[in-house]
Amino acid sequence: MTKDKLYQNPEAPAEFIFNSQVAEVFDDMLQRSVPCYDQVIDMMAIQLNRFCRNGDLVYDLGCSTGTTLLELSRRLEDKKINFIGIDNSEAMIKKASLKAEMFSQKEKVSFLKADIDETDISPCKAFILNYTLQFFRPIVRKDFLRRLHNVLQPGGILLISEKIISHDPLLNRAYIDFYHDFKRSQGYSETEIARKRESLENILIPFSILENTELLQKAGFSHVEPFFQWFNFASFIAVKEEK
Ligand SMILES: C[S@@+](CC[C@H](N)C(=O)[O-])C[C@H]1O[C@@H](n2cnc3c(N)ncnc32)[C@H](O)[C@@H]1O
Repeated sequence: MTKDKLYQNPEAPAEFIFNSQVAEVFDDMLQRSVPCYDQVIDMMAIQLNRFCRNGDLVYDLGCSTGTTLLELSRRLEDKKINFIGIDNSEAMIKKASLKAEMFSQKEKVSFLKADIDETDISPCKAFILNYTLQFFRPIVRKDFLRRLHNVLQPGGILLISEKIISHDPLLNRAYIDFYHDFKRSQGYSETEIARKRESLENILIPFSILENTELLQKAGFSHVEPFFQWFNFASFIAVKEEK
């Protein structure tokens, strides 16, 4: 795994983009920047195991280098689920496809380069949307989620993870500090933390737990609950009503 040193470089892009340099170090960046990344995948596997049947189709939207899907496909081997990962970054999809080949998972897991807001999506039993909606402009989020709700089979689920904010200023400040402590503990310097934070300003726009819950409800989901929270990171399950 190539170590993420992107923001040690003063010439790193002022605005964060998912280009080939990011794709190269992305697996290390995720492990060191997203608290409890593996635990969230564990909890998603448990939920997919409950809600999916043999032969179901599951999409990962904004799949990056395919880590989540490849891990889920390994853990849910007996279910014979078909997984499709979509991402609009060519470099990410290239890496994901290489990893699928390396782990002999090409029969069950495929990757597609496309814009998830525009490409056709087939009826499916589950969507995974991990740390991706936060990069969508707030104004388009509801319509996008509604489209996912419409294409889900009855009883299907959306599993979503997001960076979040608190509207309580005292707690919001504390949560940000805890997150920076986490990044320091992962070996990032003050300069790297500050440069990355600036590059994500106006690009990653987090909602609160309540705002995300209401968004999912307004998109049509009848059962919505957070299933995980680590200070300013949260994951939710949203279920489409069984007919
Ligand atoms: C933070 S990463 C997601 C990490 C990944 N889901 C995981 O858990 O390993 C966000 C990803 O969303 C992709 N992305 C953002 N907007 C997109 C869009 N409109 N269509 C497709 N992919 C998009 C980016 O290229 C990037 O790879």
